[in-house]
Formats: sequence, C-alpha cells, structure tokens
Amino acid sequence: MSNLFLTSDKKSKKAFDKIVKKSSKAIQDSLKSSAAYSGLTPEELKKVIFTENILPESGHGFDETLEEVKKKILPNFLNVTSTDYMAHLHSPPLMESISSELILSAFNQSMDSWDQAPVATEIELQVVEKLCQLYGYDKKGDGIFTSGGTQSNLMGITLARDWFCNTKLNYDIKALGLPPEYNKFRIYTSEVSHFSVEKSAHLLGLGYNSVVKVAVDSRQKMDIDSLRTSIETDLSNGLIPICVVATIGTTDYGSIDPLEEINELCIEHGLWLHGDAAYGSGLILSSKYSSRIDGIENCDSITIDFHKMFMLPISCGAFLLKDTDNFKTLTLHADYLNREEDEEEGYTNLVGKSMQTTRRFDALKVWMTFYSQGRVNLSYIISKSVDNANFVYNSLLKREEFDVVTKPEISSVVFRLKQDCEVNKRVRRELIHKHGIVIGQTVLKDKTYLKLTLLNPLLTEKHLDDLLDLIKSLV
Ligand SMILES: Cc1ncc(COP(=O)(O)O)c(C=O)c1O
Repeated sequence: MSNLFLTSDKKSKKAFDKIVKKSSKAIQDSLKSSAAYSGLTPEELKKVIFTENILPESGHGFDETLEEVKKKILPNFLNVTSTDYMAHLHSPPLMESISSELILSAFNQSMDSWDQAPVATEIELQVVEKLCQLYGYDKKGDGIFTSGGTQSNLMGITLARDWFCNTKLNYDIKALGLPPEYNKFRIYTSEVSHFSVEKSAHLLGLGYNSVVKVAVDSRQKMDIDSLRTSIETDLSNGLIPICVVATIGTTDYGSIDPLEEINELCIEHGLWLHGDAAYGSGLILSSKYSSRIDGIENCDSITIDFHKMFMLPISCGAFLLKDTDNFKTLTLHADYLNREEDEEEGYTNLVGKSMQTTRRFDALKVWMTFYSQGRVNLSYIISKSVDNANFVYNSLLKREEFDVVTKPEISSVVFRLKQDCEVNKRVRRELIHKHGIVIGQTVLKDKTYLKLTLLNPLLTEKHLDDLLDLIKSLV
C-alpha cells in the first residue's frame, strides 16, 4: 500500500513525479497529426476499446494501465486543440489552465466549507469580486463558481422564481413549496435560446409550458415587440410573468438579445432579468468587441462560462448575482458543515451560495489564467475568434454555392450548401470520417445547416478558405 497518495514523504514524491512525467509523455506522443479525430465509427471504437475485465482481482499497476490508455483511448480522443475542430462551444484549454487542473486535483480542496478549502475559498472570493467589477456590478454584486451554463441558468431561474414569490406574492416558497398559482408563472426567452431554460422550468416544477418562446428577428435576436406583446397578452389572460432570460450569445448563431430594451420592459413589468452569457461572456475581455454586450450590468443575474470563449478546461462556470441578498434562498445551515457562527467569526462557507455541496476549486483556473496571460493576450485570443467568423461570413457571401444565415456577432457562422438537406448532412459526416475535420450541424426552418464555431485563435484565414473549398468539392 505504499505510494497510494502524494505526501511529504520522499518516495511518494518520486512516484508522483514519475506518474506526471509518464502521463505527460503519453499525451504528447499521442498528438501525432493535426486531425481533429481518428475517424473511427462508433462500431470500430467499441472494438478498439474492448477490455475483458476492467475490474481484475489483482490490478495491473500504473505502467501497464497507461499502456492500455495509450493504445485504446489517447489516439481516439477528439483533439480540441486541432484547427480542424470547429463544431461546438468547446475550446482548446490554455496551457497554464492544465497546470491548474493538476494542482487542484493534487490538493482536492472542496469549496463547501472554509475548513475544507481555506485558501481556495479566499481565492474564489477574490475571483468573484474581480468578475463583478468586470461585468459592471457594484458592491452588492456577488457570485459563485458552477459546473457550467446549465447549472448557472438553473440558479438564475430558481432565484428569479423565489424572489418573485417572496417579494411580489409575499409567499415563503422555501418553506411552503410552490404557491397555488404556480402554473400561471411565465418565463420569457427567445425561440433560439438554450434548452437548459426549459430543463430548468421542468426541474423547478413549473413545466415546459411556463416557458414562452419569443420570436427572433432575421439576425436571430429576440424581437422586442414580440416580447412586449407576449407579456401584455399573458397579463391580460391572467397569467403571471416572472422573468426574462436574455441570451447573450445564442448557441448556434452567437446572436445577442437587445439588452437595453429588454431591461426597460423588465423594469416596467417588475420582472427579473437573467442574462445567459454562457457564450458571450468572453467578449468582456475583448478591447475590440466588448461593447457588444453593453447592458449586461443591468441583468439581475448572469451566467458565465469559462469553458467556452475563455478557453479553460471543463468544467468551469460562474453565476453572478446583482444583489447578494438574493443568495439567501439557497442557504441552509448544517451543524456539521456551515454553522451560522462561522460567518459571524469571518469564516466564509461558500456552500450557502451553491446548489452543490462538494465542489471543485475551478476558480483557480481563472485566477492562474488571468494572472498569467493578462488582459492584452486574452483580448487578442478572444478578438481573433470574432475576426475569423467575420472573415468566413464575408467569404461565404462571395461564394454562390452557399447560403449564410446572418452576420456573426461573436464567433459562430451558420451556413449551408444550396443543396438538399441530405447532401449537407453527408458532407459533414464525410468531413469527420474521411478528413478528420469536425464541424457542427443545426436546423433552421426545417432545413439542415452547417455550423462553424470558431473558438481556436490558431485558425487562419487560409485554413478557413481551404475548408470552404473542400466542402464545395464534396457535393
Ligand atoms: C447559450 C448557452 N447557454 C447555456 C449553455 C449550457 O452550458 P454548459 O454546457 O456549460 O452547461 C450553453 C452550451 O452550449 C449555451 O450555448
């Protein structure tokens, strides 16, 4: 049982060093080509990874295990750092953030209570304070790290629901559960918003029916007149609007809803405004494009994802709240974990602001990356992806064999070959299995579209033009 853990013992440190070095070499050796994927089909993959028994009576030891990983798994990973990977909001991880992952796993801090994460708690608080400043919140602003956009959106809609019940209905939902009129609650979001809005409504007991999908304009942004009409019609029918979820960067198009006008409507009707900036939050660091998300500071809560535009490893998200008092709805004291007296004595137990109990120290990745790269580099990285999307858009406009949906606001371009949907689908599959190139696919008005999500700043204009030539040649 020696060397089970990394300890202060010399032998244990030596064993750790060996494991890290061997893993690092295996990772590097596996990166043999620039392709995004080995090309294996699901059937072929199943054969390659077949292992008689993954729980043998006697273990095989690290070296033999790593050999298996080298043979079966590493060559078949999707290579997210490849410039041939352009499918999803799924980024290559910046180098120093991989070091952060190693450090945070080695020390395995848990963010629920101060006594499980003393310095990590203080660092998360420091990062959250910086984020509040960046996104324009004042001293009442607060936040917490989350597993990503889905959890942050669930938190936003939960707090919106509870705030509405507490302040507008004078009803203690935390103690009593849903109020009698709960099935009249309505949440407004655009028809191209993320499906986690509906998922949240379901989990909160409000059901999909509570989500009103507001029409978008030709640029895929929420149409403000449709929003106003929906709210007013619902009010006149006795329904109860509680919040608007504005998308600050839609998953497919990167379109940004009109935040100023939506905020005015929310103020007029006393609604909570949640900003889903899982995608668009990265623009804040771009000196060239940050004004595209002006108005984000008016949101009552904001979803931020660091595992998208910020290029950090999964998982890494945050939820920001304009008024820290609204976190109270999530706080419940447990004698073993987060005693009330701790707070009075200056020990912060972050579990009081989170849906999770045990939680990773993901804030370290933001701290280390911000500090290491600095604003100028991060601005370049993020601006480059938007520049690349503009380039592809203009290139598509010049090519008559393609249709393109809209001018990108962030870094995604949705387009199609002017051919049958089946041809577009076939071309995408051929790119994956014959060329190791992975691009996205979506549907608009019953037609199949192709999608480039351009997060990787190493992509060049030549690379993108060559890809469009290749797509054309596959028809
Ligand atoms: C706009 C938007 N919101 C929320 C999410 C969900 O984020 P996550 O995958 O981090 O849970 C996504 C994911 O792509 C997204 O694009």
